[in-house]
Amino acid sequence: MGDRVSRPKQTIKPLQPVLKPVMAEQSSSEPAPSTVIVIMGASGDLAKKKIYPTLWRVAKGGLFPKNTKIVGYARSDLTIEKLKEKCAPFLKATDEEADKLKDFWARNTYVRGSYTEKQAFDALSAEIKKQETGFKKANRLFYLALPPSVFAPVTSNIKLCCMSPCGWSRVIVEKPFGKGLS
Ligand SMILES: NC(=O)c1ccc[n+]([C@@H]2O[C@H](COP(=O)([O-])OP(=O)(O)OC[C@H]3O[C@@H](n4cnc5c(N)ncnc54)[C@H](OP(=O)(O)O)[C@@H]3O)[C@@H](O)[C@H]2O)c1
Repeated sequence: MGDRVSRPKQTIKPLQPVLKPVMAEQSSSEPAPSTVIVIMGASGDLAKKKIYPTLWRVAKGGLFPKNTKIVGYARSDLTIEKLKEKCAPFLKATDEEADKLKDFWARNTYVRGSYTEKQAFDALSAEIKKQETGFKKANRLFYLALPPSVFAPVTSNIKLCCMSPCGWSRVIVEKPFGKGLS
């Protein structure tokens, strides 16, 4: 009793070098870049229960970088309307937040494609470029909400077809991965 462990302040330190350039970019006098977040595996359980709801919370809190767009990608035959329906039980909004929610979904598009075919990633790249039209600087974040069995082809195809020519490109790999603690 009473020996609750308090989180040491320095736990946020490892993030600071990563966040510094992002924060500098946002507060700079240069025009803000475009940011495209690509959810690979947008049709899945993690996407509907965690990723879209979390992005919604970030958006409604006004914490998205300016000019953020979200592109969902998977093999399933989906539309934004169908994605909205899948996410609805997990994506909470009050009546007052209705306009913000509409704005959130208006930032979303969906591309259907395979995880192994270059042609499909060319189509994904074309959609990302469409979202970046008019921006001199364009950052891309790929979230792999996928089984680890497809991490290798997906990251190879991202490298081949989808790297930003004028900004950073980053990949988030969902846990668990690997075959053991070692
Ligand atoms: N769900 C969670 O709460 C949770 C929590 C922690 C970690 N994770 C991890 O997050 C990742 C995604 O989890 P998830 O629950 O969202 O998985 P999931 O629903 O089984 O898969 C996500 C999407 O990947 C595609 N997919 C599934 N199996 C595939 C296969 N064998 N080959 C190619 N594509 C396949 C499917 O999309 P299409 O068929 O439409 O392409 C599916 O909608 C996994 O690595 C999981 O271990 C999940």
